[in-house]
Amino acid sequence: MKKIEPCTLVIFGAGGNLSRRKLLPALFRLEMAKRLPDNVTILGCDIALRQHEEWLDWVAGVLRPIYPQGIDEAALQRFCARLHYFATPLGDDAAYLRLQQLLENESSEFHPNVMYYMSVRPSEFPKIVEKLGGVGLLKEKNGWRRLVIEKPFGYDLLSAQTLQASLYRHVNEPQIYRIDHYLGKGTVQKGRADYYEGAGALRDMIQSHLLQLLALVAMEPPVTMSAEHLRDEKVKALKAIRPITQNSVHAHAFRGQYTSGTIDGVAVPGYLEEPGVAEDSTTETYAALKLFVDNWRWAGVPFYLRTGKRMAETCSTICIRFKNPPQDLLKHARHGPPQPNWIMLGIQPNDCLKMEMQVKVPGLDLHTRTISLDATYRKEGDEDYDAYAGLLLDVMQGDHSLFLRIDEVETAWRVVDPVLKVWSMERDFINGYQAGSWGPRGTYRLFDRDDQFWRHSLNPEGAELQAY
Ligand SMILES: NC(=O)c1ccc[n+]([C@@H]2O[C@H](COP(=O)([O-])OP(=O)(O)OC[C@H]3O[C@@H](n4cnc5c(N)ncnc54)[C@H](OP(=O)(O)O)[C@@H]3O)[C@@H](O)[C@H]2O)c1
Repeated sequence: MKKIEPCTLVIFGAGGNLSRRKLLPALFRLEMAKRLPDNVTILGCDIALRQHEEWLDWVAGVLRPIYPQGIDEAALQRFCARLHYFATPLGDDAAYLRLQQLLENESSEFHPNVMYYMSVRPSEFPKIVEKLGGVGLLKEKNGWRRLVIEKPFGYDLLSAQTLQASLYRHVNEPQIYRIDHYLGKGTVQKGRADYYEGAGALRDMIQSHLLQLLALVAMEPPVTMSAEHLRDEKVKALKAIRPITQNSVHAHAFRGQYTSGTIDGVAVPGYLEEPGVAEDSTTETYAALKLFVDNWRWAGVPFYLRTGKRMAETCSTICIRFKNPPQDLLKHARHGPPQPNWIMLGIQPNDCLKMEMQVKVPGLDLHTRTISLDATYRKEGDEDYDAYAGLLLDVMQGDHSLFLRIDEVETAWRVVDPVLKVWSMERDFINGYQAGSWGPRGTYRLFDRDDQFWRHSLNPEGAELQAY
């Protein structure tokens, strides 16, 4: 276990949604597990003016409801002792000078290793970095300075490069930790339509999270588990993705938007009826891509990525379908087409590993059936932490393995940019799909062969090639 260095964690946007739902609860879990050294302090920054006591009450009000059986009062007391608040009202540029005084004056109670977490809207990232840089708060003098940038990193290749250039004015690459954690679920339902309307499923999920998963599946084993070796291999896999030209967008990409439907027996509105969504919006709530990784190992193997909101089931999975053997020796012993073998990784809601194989049925005749091996490796009593707890510790330890390097981000944008361009020009029509279904009709046209289709779920019946 690597040592966690003492540090000051400054959260910009500490009063916002991400901080409330993820960051503060994750930090409190670490407190309960005694994983935070004594000299870690947490300075919440937000634009609202709040007194110290008010801030402690606010944080306790966020944490208590998470433990309806009663919160660990001793841990809460220890946690509150780490908390501080500092207001950075909009337009008050002198606030950053006061922040510099607070953090860096000789009698400062804050440790000089500082990690700045940008939990604010993306348009604020460069502004805050510019102000921090302007008062010298990003210079590594007597301690390190690390910058955690939330997703999305840009909204296309050009804007990502512009954002990067603005960061490089004040920090260098090893100081930057670009988070890419899958939290997309429920953004629309939670009144964040303003964000989603401008982003859509391709940007929100595929450019970041799904291409990361593709890179992890397709990459060669790294030389070591060091962050740079790992990221080198991921970039190689991403760079090998065959570019989608604007002319071939329709053969490689499909988008859709949910209409009203039923989920778990409850009627739900369509996307256009959601609050904050424009009545003629063509923002996609479903996106699917077919990609090829043109390298020695994966030549000719299609990779299908899809993401959708309001689907029949909420889950994240990776399903690897083996090719059928070149000669079907059992074709006379079977009714119907051959069934493939599968390896499947469940990511959400449960992490698990499953295999499905065709085996001979014992007995005198030559019949086959599917057997399923469920290698769920989680045991009762295993520690269960939200990913943010691990990521926050990684930053405190200076471990970049799970954070994106700029060349990964740029390569991922290069993959989706042509699709975004074509879709942004086609504003007249978008395919609909009923909420609670498995997505729009018509995605079959992405598949090269009749026996290929989405694997809808990890259950055996998910293997049936059904459209809905
Ligand atoms: N929430 C999620 O589930 C989620 C998931 C993935 C990624 N993210 C990313 O995380 C970031 C934060 O998202 P969020 O949902 O927490 O947004 P949010 O609810 O709008 O929270 C941002 C907070 O920052 C405050 N703020 C605005 N400008 C500021 C400034 N210059 N200095 C300090 N505080 C400032 C806001 O105050 P006002 O409200 O008064 O403006 C608000 O309290 C975004 O980049 C988002 O893309 C969020």
